[in-house]
Amino acid sequence: MASRKLLLLAGDGIGPEAMAEVKKLIAMMNAEMAAGFETEEGLVGGCAYDAHGKAISEEDMAKAMAADAVLFGAVGGPKWDGVPYEVRPEAGLLRLRKDMELFANLRPAICYPALASSSSLKPEVVEGLDILIVRELTGGVYFGEPKEIIDLGNGQKRGIDTQVYDTFEIERIAGVAFELARTRQNKVCSMEKRNVMKSGVLWNEVVTQTHKAKYPDVELSHMLADAGGMQLVRWPKQFDVIVTDNLFGDMLSDVAAMLTGSLGMLPSASLGAPDPKTGSRKALYEPVHGSAPDIAGQGIANPIAMIASFAMCLRYSFNMVAEADRLEKAIADVLDSGLRTGDIMSPGATQVNTQQMGDAIVEKFRALAA
Ligand code: NAD
Ligand code: IPM
Ligand code: MN
Repeated sequence: MASRKLLLLAGDGIGPEAMAEVKKLIAMMNAEMAAGFETEEGLVGGCAYDAHGKAISEEDMAKAMAADAVLFGAVGGPKWDGVPYEVRPEAGLLRLRKDMELFANLRPAICYPALASSSSLKPEVVEGLDILIVRELTGGVYFGEPKEIIDLGNGQKRGIDTQVYDTFEIERIAGVAFELARTRQNKVCSMEKRNVMKSGVLWNEVVTQTHKAKYPDVELSHMLADAGGMQLVRWPKQFDVIVTDNLFGDMLSDVAAMLTGSLGMLPSASLGAPDPKTGSRKALYEPVHGSAPDIAGQGIANPIAMIASFAMCLRYSFNMVAEADRLEKAIADVLDSGLRTGDIMSPGATQVNTQQMGDAIVEKFRALAA
């Protein structure tokens, strides 16, 4: 039996509620499909801060570095609003991304046929939508130095964040976008703000050079990121792969989420570079949404983003492509059958809670495997 080491970091708020549904899938795949998942659990975010004063412990960081893949729920919440910036819940996630060198964040936004009318946009705008945002995840303004608040001594303070990108960082994320485009509609749109940012000028240059040198067969376009946000809402089906920096990618992926009906639908994969010897890569899989404090504890969160993140894990970390396809089909079939959590509820559909949605997907996945 294969051994596949997974670290589960459920986190805060709805994180553990969504993760519970993935645990059911893991248990079922171990029992019925000899999947060989070995799971460990750890703490991240506010719950880790409560336990030991840090957003992630050194022990759990070491477990993450040793795992074949990390499954991550969500972190944060108003309970930790007052904690020092360095140990706030989100710092745990940022440390995982940085230390595991997860530079490539894939955020697919797919509008399942059954949800075309759940989006706040007209059905014809989102029907059949299948785009992929490739977000740079270990650079840019998230990590650039200096990053501080300084006292100017005249009753004024100055908050400073620094946007920094080096050539190699842009080259490698562009490479990921071009490679993935070749497996899809062969189109990449690069988004930056070269009209106001030096890093945007460099981004544009390096993406253009990388395209010319290695991927001339892929169709490349460029868009200013603000216009890109507008175009995502106006006519999102014009895009195939979007490649952009850390901050623009964060914002544009929340916009893209709403094209699919709900933030509760969007999965993501954060990948490191493949090891030249073994081909394996560090990876973390997480929904795009946060801890949703407004609905946490009620058992009504949509678990699909978390379950679809697990499908990405099967595909990218374990090469279990058939299982990943089957799990995604199970999600689509369950939505077709009319089951909906509250966030994607529509007239005539049947409203279910988190566990019922999870159970229905597990059942469908099992039936599709038979
Ligand atoms: P959020 O994503 O937690 O919630 C935004 C809205 O979407 C809320 O109304 C919420 O109820 C809804 N929503 C999100 N996921 C849902 C789901 N699965 N099912 C149904 N509804 C869902 O964003 P926020 O409120 O801006 O942030 C809350 C906290 O989460 C903050 O502390 C933030 O820093 C953190 N956060 C964490 C992550 C992460 O852990 N990866 C991502 C984003 C935000
Ligand atoms: C996301 C989140 C994170 C980010 C936060 C929680 C650090 O918003 O993954 O989209 O800004 O990257
Ligand atoms: Mn975000």
